Amino acid sequence: MSDFGSQPPAPEPSAPPPERRTFLRWLTTGVCGLAATAVGVPVVGYFLGPLRKRPVEWVGLGPVGRFPVNETRRQEFVNPIRQPWDGAAANTACFVRYLGPDAQGQDQFWVFAVNCTHLGCPVSWAPQAGLFLCPCHGGVYYENGDRASGPPPRGLYRYVWRVRDGQLEVQAPHMPTLQDTLDQPSELVQLGIRTRRPGCDSA
Ligand code: FES
Repeated sequence: MSDFGSQPPAPEPSAPPPERRTFLRWLTTGVCGLAATAVGVPVVGYFLGPLRKRPVEWVGLGPVGRFPVNETRRQEFVNPIRQPWDGAAANTACFVRYLGPDAQGQDQFWVFAVNCTHLGCPVSWAPQAGLFLCPCHGGVYYENGDRASGPPPRGLYRYVWRVRDGQLEVQAPHMPTLQDTLDQPSELVQLGIRTRRPGCDSA
């Protein structure tokens, strides 16, 4: 039988020269390494971040005499826990209510974060009603910060405070969340260890 009409086999593609192959291999390895670093560093930082010890910082809110007994005052302050690019966002506030001295003569306060515990909108104080009102979804809180009604799942977050040399100070706060309230150190909460934060009482 004749092979007339059958196609000749296609020529094998010629392999790239060794130098080009080596260059492409190095290029691929480099690009993959850069991509892995770009993804891996933030992930590792996220998991190791809680292990980093953050020094406790205190922010002065003013002399105790600034706060009349049984009146709730909005007090603004600059949060030292901030990034250089935070700008005006580092200016925050809290609500302070001076309860007067206790039986031992120690000044007592309620200091609340302004953030609603639903989605974080700043609440406002309505003195006539004796309630904190959230403008976003109608959350309402009693004067002691307990949840009164609406979608918030809990009462207002409380700041850790102390009195030093007649000045009311609060522990520089991070942004509170339901998992990481201001009552507990964030690094331990994220590790699943729950303890009380020292300094909740006046000194
Ligand atoms: S953010 Fe306050 S009720 Fe939703």
